Formats: sequence, structure tokens, C-alpha cells
Amino acid sequence: MINNIGREHGLKLGDIDALQGRAVEIHKNLQARRKTDIGFYNLPYDKKLFKDVLLLSKELTDRFDNLVVLGIGGSSLGGRAVFNGLCHPYHNLLPRDKRKGLRVFFCDNIDPDSFSPLLKTLNLKKTVFNVITKSGGTAETVAQFLVINDLLKKRLGRKYRNHIVITTDPVKGPLRKIAADECFNSLPVPPNVGGRYSVFSAAGLFPSAMAGVDIKKLLAGARQMDETVGASDIWKNPTYMSAILQYLAYQRGKNISVIMPYSNALRDFAEWYIQLWAESLGKRVNLKGAVVNAGTTPIKAIGTTDQHSQLQLYTEGPYDKIITFIEVKKFDNKIPIPEIYKDVDGVGYLGGHTMDELFKAEQMATKIALAKKGRMNYTITIPEINPFTIGQLLFFFEVQTAFAGGLFEINPFDQPGVEEGKNLTYGIMGKRGYEKMTAEIKDQSKRRDKQYIIGEDRG
Ligand code: PA5
Repeated sequence: MINNIGREHGLKLGDIDALQGRAVEIHKNLQARRKTDIGFYNLPYDKKLFKDVLLLSKELTDRFDNLVVLGIGGSSLGGRAVFNGLCHPYHNLLPRDKRKGLRVFFCDNIDPDSFSPLLKTLNLKKTVFNVITKSGGTAETVAQFLVINDLLKKRLGRKYRNHIVITTDPVKGPLRKIAADECFNSLPVPPNVGGRYSVFSAAGLFPSAMAGVDIKKLLAGARQMDETVGASDIWKNPTYMSAILQYLAYQRGKNISVIMPYSNALRDFAEWYIQLWAESLGKRVNLKGAVVNAGTTPIKAIGTTDQHSQLQLYTEGPYDKIITFIEVKKFDNKIPIPEIYKDVDGVGYLGGHTMDELFKAEQMATKIALAKKGRMNYTITIPEINPFTIGQLLFFFEVQTAFAGGLFEINPFDQPGVEEGKNLTYGIMGKRGYEKMTAEIKDQSKRRDKQYIIGEDRG
């Protein structure tokens, strides 16, 4: 029986077992709250949502060529992860008959130099915009909405309404009101589902369906994972075990959590995970209100690309990281490496192998290199990438994050730091009700000026 995983920088099996009691408590709490305030668990079971999304996406797929998704953070990353994970890597370049759905463009940033060229490039007559904002008030998304609304009205006249779908709170918020007044097509994000946990709500499902993703299988994967993670025994629940490994690593000074899929299709999945982990666990106070400044910093690395960028740091830099590999067993494409230049040293040995063999060899080599240097790492393996396994993976990490919140004893469902930034922006931009913020900002800028002048004087 191995009871020490790794040496100096490893874990003892007893450390893991010692958390079983707490795991049972956290498990009970999460399971009880899924009926009330933790709504993400229930989304894969929501038949009405599935039907509504499918119906609207079918209708619009026939009428349009392009979908532009306007939304940021949790209102963009889930849809992007599914799109990048499951659609052809060059989906938007394929002719219509070679792709299953519309071309999809995600605009999560308001950088005018990326937004404006897109609007100038697309044929607006064949473009539908999905405006996603749970709160209905995020400045970036609302600004984008105002721009496209005006543009569509000017270009298409009264028909502009047919080109907008709003995804927001079912009852509250400014965008819900506008959607109702204007009779825009609209879809709900339930109030008990946080933005970063909303991938299985209309926020993630609608863009996915419009891109031609089989959302039925995606949801089936999530439901299957829900069953798998239903056990409170940490040795039978891979999600809880993964959260525990992250937590124990953090307690031992590994406050950076690297996610490293060996798959280009999982690049945006890694981005999604980064937001989920960072925004859920990075908290100033714990559940008792004590200041803890908790959280591990998530970092994305893609195999093999980042072997040639970050790996040197991971193997020889500070012992401050835990690395989670995501391994894909079977790829759709096998590319044989031709047996040419056999006599040339350093080239010939590759001939006769396949590209995925090399991919896997690189991954194994990286794991061994890390282990040899005593660097914490573990691997989550999926048989292949398809809608079912992506559904499983997304749900796995949602539950892992919620459970980790329990271990860290913080609230993984709020985001006061993000709200603060939003409120200050409202203050700067002159939103009614945020006058206090405006005053605070003026005060802060005066102080900065003063410091700057003092700095100048010293020079
Ligand atoms: O996860 C979150 O709560 C945030 O990242 C939000 O998704 C993000 O700030 C966008 O908010 P909203 O959907 O209200 O526009």
C-alpha cells in the first residue's frame, strides 16, 4: 500500500482521508441547496429550457448565416468553450453545407478596434446577435447592444427586431424590460445560476445549438457526471478528490493551479475553467467574515505548445504549482508520419509513427519530467472529445469548484470584487444611482495626482 504520494512536496494518503468528514458535510450542504439557491445542478434536467433553445435555434439557423454573441465573463466563456471544443477547428471558414450550424463570433471585449471591423465585415442582413447578460446591466454588453441596435435599425429598418435575441434574467433587469417592450426573442438565465455556472443555461446552450452542436448529448453528459459525482465518499467521487488535491496543494504553498489539456479543442475550455476557479475561490473573507484572502491562481497551458514556453518554470522554478493534465485518449484524425529521410539522424526516427503517438509521448514525457522533479500533477482522462464528454467535463469542473468553495470555507457563488469594478465603471460613466462612486473616483484621482507631483519634486 502506497501511503505517500511523492516525497518532500507530495501528499500522504492520510491527509486525503482526513478530509472525508468535511467532504460529507459539504456534500450534504450542496445537495440540499441544489433545490434552492445553487441552480446550476438542475440545468441539465430542464426539459423546457432544452425545448425552447432547440426551437428558437432551428428557426433562426434557417434564416441566418452568422451569429454574433455579445456577452462577457460567464456570459461568453461557456458558449465559447463548447464551440471551440466541439465544432470543426476552422468552422467559420467552411462553406454552409460543410458545417452543421451558423458561423459564430464571440465578442466579449469592447476593444473598438476588434468590434468595429467585425461589424463592417459581416453581412448584417444574414446576421443575428445574441445579447447575453444575466444582470442585464453589464456596461460592456449593454454598450455593444446599443451599438448593434442602432446599426441594425439604420440598415434594416423595422426588421431589426428579428436580428436580436436577448438572454437575461427571466423577470428583472434593464435588458429584460427592453426585450419585453420591443418583443425581441428572448431566453432566460435563472436567478439562482451564477454567470460562470451558466454554461448549461440558455447562455451556453443557445450559441452551441446555433453552431450545430448536439446539445442533447451535451446535457446527457452533464447528467451522467451528476450521477458520478453523487457520492460523498471521496474515493468514489473524482470531482471531490480533484478539489481535495487542489486544496491540499494550496495548504502546502502551491497557490498556482495550472490546467494543461493536451488538445487544441480544449483551449477555450481552459479559459472557461480559469474564470470559474478564479472568480469562485478568490475571496477576501471566509464564511465567518474573517479576512482570509483565499484563492489559487489558475493558469492555462496547452500541450504541447506550452512545453516550449512554460514547462521550464514548472519543472525547475518555485514549488508553488499543481498541474492538472487533461488527456484525450482517442483523436479523430490519425496522421501517419512518412518514412522519409530515414538515414538522417534526428529526423528518421519519427517516420512510421503517427502524429497522435508523438502527442501522447510528449504528454507522458512531461508528466515524468515533472514527477522526477517532485512537482505535483495529476491527470483527468477522457476517452475522446464529443458532446457527451464535453458535457461531463464542464459539469465535473462546476462541481469541483463548488465543492472546493466548501473546503476553502468561502462563498464560491458571489463575486464582490467584480461587482466593485462594475460599480466604479458605472460611477465613471455617470450612471444614475452611482453618484457616490463618482465622488470616490474623483477623490482617488486627486490623491494620485498629488503623489505624482511629490514624486516629480523629489526628482
Ligand atoms: O460569473 C460571473 O458572475 C461574471 O463573470 C459575469 O458572468 C460577468 O460579469 C457578466 O455579467 P452579466 O452576465 O450580468 O452581464
